[in-house]
Formats: sequence, C-alpha cells, structure tokens
Amino acid sequence: MMRRKLVVGNWKMHGSIASNKTLLEGVVAGLRDLHDADAVVCVPYPYLGQAQSLLQGTNVAWGAQNMCSTKDGALTGAVSPAMLVDYGCTHVIIGHSERRNLFHETDDTAAARFSAALEAGLIPIFCMGESAEERESDWTDYIVGRQLDSIIRRFGPHVLANAVLAYEPLWAVGSDNPATPQQAQEVHEFIRRRIARCDPQIATAVRILYGGSVTAANAAQLFAMPDIDGGLIGRASLSAQDFVPICRAANPGS
Ligand code: PGA
Repeated sequence: MMRRKLVVGNWKMHGSIASNKTLLEGVVAGLRDLHDADAVVCVPYPYLGQAQSLLQGTNVAWGAQNMCSTKDGALTGAVSPAMLVDYGCTHVIIGHSERRNLFHETDDTAAARFSAALEAGLIPIFCMGESAEERESDWTDYIVGRQLDSIIRRFGPHVLANAVLAYEPLWAVGSDNPATPQQAQEVHEFIRRRIARCDPQIATAVRILYGGSVTAANAAQLFAMPDIDGGLIGRASLSAQDFVPICRAANPGS
C-alpha cells in the first residue's frame, strides 16, 4: 500500500504578520504543482486568520500547535477545538515534547486533547519520542511504546485511522543532530508493528512522520525509508527556501 506523504511545518513561537506573508506566499508559489504529497503549516494562534486568508484555495493546509481538551468555559488563555475549526484548521499538533517538558503536559492530558481533536473533526498529529538518556539506556521502545499505548489503550487502534503519528526523538529536535534514516526507520517500524498487533490494516494505513533537524539536505533520504511517511519540520519550516524543497522531497518527480 502506498501511503501519501505529508510534510508539516511547526513554526513554534516564531513569526510576525509581515514575515508570515512572505513565507506563506513563497510556500504557496513553490508548492503549486505538488500533487502527490500533502503540506500543512501549524502556526501560532494569533496567525490562524492570516493563514486562512492566504492559504484558502491553495494546496497548503493549516493548523495549530496545541489546543485545550475542553469545549468552553472559564479557562483563561486556553483555545478550544471548535475555535480552531472556526479558522479552517484541519490539523493540530498534540503532545509535542516542548509541551510535555516545558508546560508539564502528560500522557493523560495529551490523550484527552487527542480525543477532543478527533471529536471536533481535526486530525491530531500525535508526537512521541525519547530523550538522549533514555536512548542511551535502551529505553526507546519502552518510552515510545508507552506514549503510543496511552492512545491505543484508551481509545482503541481504530482512532488512528483519522490521526497522524510523529516520531520526534528529543535529542534530534532543535539540535542539528538528526536521527539517521536507519535510526528513525527502526523506531517507525517498531511503532507500526505495535499497532499491527491490534489492527494490521490501521498499521498499514497510518502515516508516521519523522521530526528532528530535518533539512532540505537530509529529507529525501529520510523520506525514502519504508516506514517514514513525511516529516514534522521546525526550524526549516520558517523560510520558503528551506520548506519548499523538503515538501518536494516528499513528492519525488514534482
Ligand atoms: P526542528 O524541530 O526541525 O527544528 O528540529 C522539529 C519539531 O520540534 O517539530
């Protein structure tokens, strides 16, 4: 089965109205003929309206980097799933390691947001990954398995039919030290095998992205691995010059 590749830009806390305009116009122009892969940008909340107005009608979709699991209420500073839908978002990143580590999010709260995203009709991009110490102690499968199970055990494997998974080893994120294609492939294969134990069809269909220091120079090699279905891109999503070739690497021949 051929899984369609997907490249997602994660702008994190970067951007301004002026720089976003240049970036998004460059991305749209550079990806006009991207037919056999999908591209998404996940922007900071205040720029969702701008993303919507510049990307509507193009082949680039947009989304957010987090959300609250609750529909509405007295939750100062929180943003609900329906608010993202109001701005035309299709995707939302859930459980990024920066959210887990800097904002103390847990497997439980990530799982609640994952399920709330699906309920709202959003595609959650669910992030998993081990730290350098955990890898050194040979705990990678244990950590990634636990994070994956936090979804499968609660909701069943079928929920992955409408979700995207992302393997983002913490030591590779923001580090200029990407996983090698073989290192990433090993973990992606582990993830797919673990899902296959519960549901082989879902395991074959689900897209698993790799994230962590992906650049225009290493994207093609990573995306060529059998279980790597695209990328979640941080720094290299902040300029069209870097992001466009990464998306094109997901669509060889474009
Ligand atoms: P990076 O970030 O590409 O800057 O390493 C990836 C991510 O955190 O999604």
